[in-house]
Amino acid sequence: MATTKAKAGLNNEGSPYRETNVSRTEASSPALSAGGAAPLSVANNSRTYSLDDFDTVATVGTGTFGRVFLVKDKKTRGFFALKAMKIPDVIRLKQEQHVHNEKEVLTEVNHPFLITLFWTHHDERFLYMLMDYVPGGELFSYLRSRGRFSNSTGIFYSAEIVCAIEYLHSKEIVYRDLKPENILLDGEGHIRLTDFGFAKKLSDRTWTLCGTPEYLAPEVIQSKGHGRAVDWWALGVLIFEMLAGYPPFFDDNPFGIYQKILAGKLEFPRHLDFYVKDLIKKFLVIDRARRLGNMKNGAEDVKKHRWFKSVDWEAVPNRRLKPPIIPKVSHEGDTSNFDTYPEDEWKKDTPVPPKDLEIFKNF
Ligand SMILES: Nc1ncnc2c1ncn2[C@@H]1O[C@H](COP(=O)(O)OP(=O)(O)O)[C@@H](O)[C@H]1O
Ligand SMILES: [Mg+2]
Repeated sequence: MATTKAKAGLNNEGSPYRETNVSRTEASSPALSAGGAAPLSVANNSRTYSLDDFDTVATVGTGTFGRVFLVKDKKTRGFFALKAMKIPDVIRLKQEQHVHNEKEVLTEVNHPFLITLFWTHHDERFLYMLMDYVPGGELFSYLRSRGRFSNSTGIFYSAEIVCAIEYLHSKEIVYRDLKPENILLDGEGHIRLTDFGFAKKLSDRTWTLCGTPEYLAPEVIQSKGHGRAVDWWALGVLIFEMLAGYPPFFDDNPFGIYQKILAGKLEFPRHLDFYVKDLIKKFLVIDRARRLGNMKNGAEDVKKHRWFKSVDWEAVPNRRLKPPIIPKVSHEGDTSNFDTYPEDEWKKDTPVPPKDLEIFKNF
């Protein structure tokens, strides 16, 4: 069966439905230069890092413009994830603003279901982001290996995601890339959202066309501007995909997917719970003013939906719901829950000229 992941971004070649994890648009990593600005310390962390502090253990993910490595701190022997994005690719794909948004948003957030950013850096080839390493792997892998999740498993992940989205929206941040590839499981099985490459602090509405075809809301495809409502749409798609095993709108090319999204026709597999069908229908409403989560009471309306009746919402952000899947993690730096990636010549690019580096001087 398919185990490919989607490429976010609109230049997706597409597939019947995402079988492999090709990622978003592209990436590289940042670094520091002698004489450059002092590395910014991010999160509530006063340590100053340097790339020399780390040994690279393995690649745990590849993205559109780079890779995510498991690295080991030579001093403390602790593990981190280091996302490295190729600067020329970031520039070629016009993602400069997005990488700045990614840093800005991650610097501001602090929540049990979101990744923590400790440090950013850049050198002449890469932009770097140092995060905590989440060893359980992607929800995507568990979903594809199981085919689909039971109703109660779906409720657990959905409840944690609702809390994460509610928190982000309360800070005027829209996430814009919700999908199983970006939801990681920690050692106990709780979620951690990673990949804030499309996240954005909202001013009013925002118009960039970005995301992953299967998860795009109608207003994004139609360039009508899009705000928080896109995340509730994507949650509707995610819940459908978790319980059905495939997304509600799929086709072998993005254009076909967009047509299906705009046609708004939903076909549920027979086995779906009555209440979850009702919830999904309320998220996948084309008119975002009538979409659940995006009305006057915001996330409260979602939490009150009957499908979540068994959920103690106060317990959720305290990580007190019992995870349905406990990842097999034998030690802190275990990478067995991730795919293996060839450690090829990814580092062989030529350095970026100083004028191009200027754009990233604050990274
Ligand atoms: N903090 C992390 N811990 C463990 N794995 C991670 C972490 N961050 C990302 N990954 C892995 O790397 C993949 C790519 O990272 P992501 O930030 O999603 O890049 P892209 O923006 O290119 O999609 C993820 O899908 C995930 O498998
Ligand atoms: Mg990603």
